[in-house]
Amino acid sequence: MSDRKSLLRLRELREQAHQGGGPERIAKQHAAGKLTARERIDLLLDPGSFHEIGTLAAHHVTDFGMEKRRYPGDGVITGFGTIDGRRVAVYAQDFTVLGGSFSEMQANKISRLLDLAREAGIPLIGLVESGGARIQEGVRGLAGYGRLFTRNVLASGVIPQISVMMGPCAGGSVYSPALTDFIVMVEGTSYMFITGPEVIKTVTGEEVDFQQLGGAYVHNARSGVAHFMASDEKAALALVRELLSYLPSNNAEDPPYAPTDDAPDRLIPELNTIVPEREDEAYDMRDVINAVFDRGSFFEVQPHFAPNVMVGFARLDGHAVGVVANQPSYLAGVLDIDSSDKIARFVRFCDAFNFPVITFVDCPGFLPGVDQEHGGVIRHGAKIIYAYVEATVPKISVVTRKAYGGAYIALSSKEMRTDLALAWPTAQIATMGAEGAVRILYRKELAQAEDPQALEAQFVAEYREKVLNPFVAAELNYIDEVIEPQETRVRLVKALHVLRTKVQENPPKKHGLMPV
Ligand code: HXC
Repeated sequence: MSDRKSLLRLRELREQAHQGGGPERIAKQHAAGKLTARERIDLLLDPGSFHEIGTLAAHHVTDFGMEKRRYPGDGVITGFGTIDGRRVAVYAQDFTVLGGSFSEMQANKISRLLDLAREAGIPLIGLVESGGARIQEGVRGLAGYGRLFTRNVLASGVIPQISVMMGPCAGGSVYSPALTDFIVMVEGTSYMFITGPEVIKTVTGEEVDFQQLGGAYVHNARSGVAHFMASDEKAALALVRELLSYLPSNNAEDPPYAPTDDAPDRLIPELNTIVPEREDEAYDMRDVINAVFDRGSFFEVQPHFAPNVMVGFARLDGHAVGVVANQPSYLAGVLDIDSSDKIARFVRFCDAFNFPVITFVDCPGFLPGVDQEHGGVIRHGAKIIYAYVEATVPKISVVTRKAYGGAYIALSSKEMRTDLALAWPTAQIATMGAEGAVRILYRKELAQAEDPQALEAQFVAEYREKVLNPFVAAELNYIDEVIEPQETRVRLVKALHVLRTKVQENPPKKHGLMPV
């Protein structure tokens, strides 16, 4: 081939690659309310920053007439670009090419990208839309998944990995995302499942449609598989850009600093009265978080799952931190199976990527119930303990009201390597609440009393006075400092200023046994 001819050939092949599965399938994709893989990459990355690799890779399968169905790129686009000027690796599966199905060649391309991303120390973003292992390729696609999963695991905790589910995602195409740090789903058009409605109907007789089985809401609010839900594809990709603004590019870096004009010494007088006088009255912990951190910086993760606790990123005097908080306005901020998983996973992410963890505690303890016990709340709750103790990043707790029993130990105690344990004057650090304690301590007296209700009220008042405050714990030095709520921001800023250079090592080991 002359130079001129080979140049034309390259242009032709590139043009073919840009056509994906062809105009008809692209029209079908658009008609279904979805963008093409290339349109998605353009929306995600800084304009003009994308540079592709593997454009011409194609499969070599000849069974099932596949020799006539070869497309340059083989249904996945891989390459690099920038987001807000920072380097990222990105792949996007092209549903217009054989349903984005995962082939041996797709495995080669994505695995190569992930190897390069890990070695360069830059985040990987996957825009996923795929019918799973390419059926025509048999074992080749399956083995390919093995290669990809291996790389997902090896890169875990080294570089951030984010998956955006942008259409049907079946079989193996959901397990690679499940091994990544964050999953974003698009409402209405994306769904994820291991076995689909038809197989389920055959095996169990249950009838369910794609959205009911694995739509964005289901995986955000019920299964906890996904972390974010976006109203459309554009919003999903904007969300990824925002998420990345909090994350370091790899585990050797600190999260990016974002200068703020929010004064570090800003007092917050309204916090002095935010905790209601009546113990059974709720307040919104989100108001506390929004008031304390740099204005508008709270970025909640898994907002729809286990809303009795909140987790997310925020900034304090420009430095990104991880925030964990009970939400007293939902189930009194109780801990249960799902909230334990949510907290433990988030704390581990923070520890892996150098985010100090700040925990706001208002929690009556673990949720009582047969379902919870039989569902393994012991095992799940243990994950919180494990994650907090294992974490060597700076950890600060602020008890705003209840810190009963396990909640005190797990979320805020210095004995579990919390660096600084703070409490508001409204804090109640105790084994349990007043009524429960009195009924156990004074069972006999109450049974014999002429007016048990009056006596119980008297004991409850005594218990409240003696036990339900932060001062006993402060006197015993289990709380480092009781602070005025209005001082919370300035205290946290100063504490982090000290702790930022904290060094703590765990004993050498291959790995511990996280109670999964
Ligand atoms: C090859 C596939 C494919 C696959 C879809 N296609 N999935 N080709 N291998 N796995 C092709 C279709 O034949 C079709 O080609 C095109 O992609 C679009 O698919 P449609 O069915 O028309 O789209 P839609 O109606 O939107 O349905 C999407 C879908 C469905 C729900 C994903 O295609 C489907 O159920 N696919 C099979 C899912 C599955 O069981 N995968 C194997 C998983 S096993 P044409 O040419 O007609 O446009 C696996 C191994 C790991 O992944 C398991 C770990 C747990």
